[in-house]
Amino acid sequence: MKDTFGRDITYLRISVTELCNLRCRYCMPEDGVCKLAHKDMLTEEELITAIEAAVSLGITKLRITGGEPLVKKNIVSICAHAADLPGVKEVCLTTNGVLLPKLAVPLKEAGVTRFNISLDTLNPEKYRYITRIGELKDAMAGIQAAFDAGFENTKINAVLIGGFNDDEIEDLADLTLKMPVDMRFIEMMPMYDSGDFGPESFISADTVLEKLKDRGLEKVSRDGGVAELYRLPGAMGNVGIIRPVSAHFCGECNRIRLTADGKLKPCLHSSDEYSIKGLDRDGMAEMFKKAVLGKPRWHGELSYDSRSHANRNMNQIGG
Ligand code: GTP
Ligand code: 5AD
Ligand code: SF4
Repeated sequence: MKDTFGRDITYLRISVTELCNLRCRYCMPEDGVCKLAHKDMLTEEELITAIEAAVSLGITKLRITGGEPLVKKNIVSICAHAADLPGVKEVCLTTNGVLLPKLAVPLKEAGVTRFNISLDTLNPEKYRYITRIGELKDAMAGIQAAFDAGFENTKINAVLIGGFNDDEIEDLADLTLKMPVDMRFIEMMPMYDSGDFGPESFISADTVLEKLKDRGLEKVSRDGGVAELYRLPGAMGNVGIIRPVSAHFCGECNRIRLTADGKLKPCLHSSDEYSIKGLDRDGMAEMFKKAVLGKPRWHGELSYDSRSHANRNMNQIGG
């Protein structure tokens, strides 16, 4: 599907649930989220129909997100169904990893291709602080489980937070020396409610390059995704920086999003939403086309004075 600016939309991000087994401070409120009424959520059948409609229109890459996608009932069969569709090249998940020790093998068997795993710190107390309820060892066991199940090209995502993990940039980057992972540092995006963090906590991705400047970092060509890539000498994976705030990658955006309550979002930071709830496959396909044609050129100014126009928290969009 081509949008009005000539971008080819081939990547669908699907948030299958707003719920999460953690409560990251930059992502969602402490008391979790009001559970969506069952009737307002896409049913599993509607979800599969939506995926089929999207794939029939040229979507080749699916990324399943949340909240935390692994808390979704039947996540393995949803992924298996998606991976089985002719035309689907990749079914990826963005997860906090905590449930991977249980689910990595079944997800591999279901045809999932790759994981991006969130990890903002290597310090157990800080991990507990940032996730409010999580245990670092569970996330690390999840990363290990992904390796053990045979997954490759795993990416680790750390949201950069000034005064919290800027002192760990080197240690996190050094994970690429010990494991075959990409370590990506993401600028914190000011959502309409950015939880516990304000402008004083924002640090630009340049901080990463600054901290690693004496380490012989070499630029690697981009992988077509949202990250600028670099490599430490002798590393098994790349160090990536994702700059949604200090720059933007809207010109190359190939993404559209679907929320757990059945709204197509042409842009992460726009409030425009197109509902597919209750539609049949043809109706959904028409709505996908409409949403793609409604995709804005860019998301507009994004800063702590000019926050995201998406009137949802990150856990209700999936990043
Ligand atoms: P791959 O390229 O498939 O590895 O995945 P990804 O980087 O697109 O997905 P992931 O879920 O790991 O997202 C990484 C970060 O990029 C998250 O903070 C997302 O919120 C952010 N991100 C993903 N897509 C967009 C986008 O279209 N716009 C902006 N501003 N940020 C995005
Ligand atoms: N800014 C940047 N990234 C965020 N994520 C969640 N909230 C934010 C935010 N406000 C990240 C998560 C996860 C990915 C889907 O988005 O850490 O890795
Ligand atoms: Fe859950 Fe991911 Fe949000 Fe953390 S960032 S609360 S793991 S959805």
